Amino acid sequence: MGNRLIGYGSYLPERTFTNADFEKIMDTTDEWIVTRTGMKVRHFAREDETVADMAAIAAQRAIEKAGIAADDIDLIIVASISAELDFPSVAVQVQSRLGMTKNQPAFDVRAACTGYVYALHAARAFFTAGMHQRILVIGSEKLTRMIDWTDRSTAVLFGDGAGAMIFEHSTSSYSGIIDTVVFSDGNGFGMLYGTPDHKITMNGPETYKKAVTLMPEAATYIMEHAGIAADSIDWIIPHQANRRIIESGANRLGFPMEKIIITVDQHANTSGASGVLALSHGMDAGIIKHGQLILYPAFGGGLTWGAALVRV
Ligand code: ACO
Repeated sequence: MGNRLIGYGSYLPERTFTNADFEKIMDTTDEWIVTRTGMKVRHFAREDETVADMAAIAAQRAIEKAGIAADDIDLIIVASISAELDFPSVAVQVQSRLGMTKNQPAFDVRAACTGYVYALHAARAFFTAGMHQRILVIGSEKLTRMIDWTDRSTAVLFGDGAGAMIFEHSTSSYSGIIDTVVFSDGNGFGMLYGTPDHKITMNGPETYKKAVTLMPEAATYIMEHAGIAADSIDWIIPHQANRRIIESGANRLGFPMEKIIITVDQHANTSGASGVLALSHGMDAGIIKHGQLILYPAFGGGLTWGAALVRV
């Protein structure tokens, strides 16, 4: 049994922070950040704005786009690693903010920058099992809570934001979440993790080496798994961690850059929200059109990696 996309939405906090703003507070330059990462600006949430607040706004926009009532949704899955509270989940906080009344199940997944692919993987499994009718899948991150402002090599890399998609059960397997693959290797833990005091710690060069091989591998694997040829893919939305990683991956796969959606310059790395934010941006701008096929490879702390194929 399949599914189809019926709505999407996103939210970016109003406040932006440019490379020039970083130049004022730490030993860095716009030139270094642009050449090494492709990042120019990122959005920073307000002090009082939570992961759940941002998730609920993106979800509300997706609900409006879908033309349904919040109670028509019967499962919420949220991908996030930056929630302010250990519990309850972001997903139940979203459920309450949306005014849902039917005790619909709601839970979070934590798989760092691969979180949204893991969330799509779970949603696909629930549809395949015939267990749910409409699933709201959200990625929401407030990574500014986790920035180590004394470490210039990670501080400049992250931003905040949220995105959401709603999928509905369908008898066709042609649309919606067509396929997903996910992997993890806990032995890579030390490369990239959040410390007990909630600070992002990363061995950049080691993580970089893994990202440039594992994302293209996941992309190749899913195309074979789904029996889809590379030239059937309309757009690739790679996890937006670094423009150089994206270019290297495109090169390895033989995909022209014209087929790649890039938002890392405008949003920086928003971890679990990155792919869905880029997809929403592409659809709002009319670049991604209804019916097109998206390949979304991701990579992150864990290590975790994977890919999703979604027809929008
Ligand atoms: N401004 C100026 N100089 C800097 C900065 C900065 N912000 N940060 C580091 N440098 C310096 C370093 O000190 C070093 O100087 P040195 O040569 O004198 O020692 C030099 O720049 C090179 O540092 P590297 O760390 O080797 O730089 P690199 O080219 O590897 O770029 C980066 C660093 C951007 C972090 C890159 O390694 C990267 O993108 N890594 C992968 C990130 C990623 O994919 N993360 C996965 C997802 S995140 C998640 O799951 C939450």
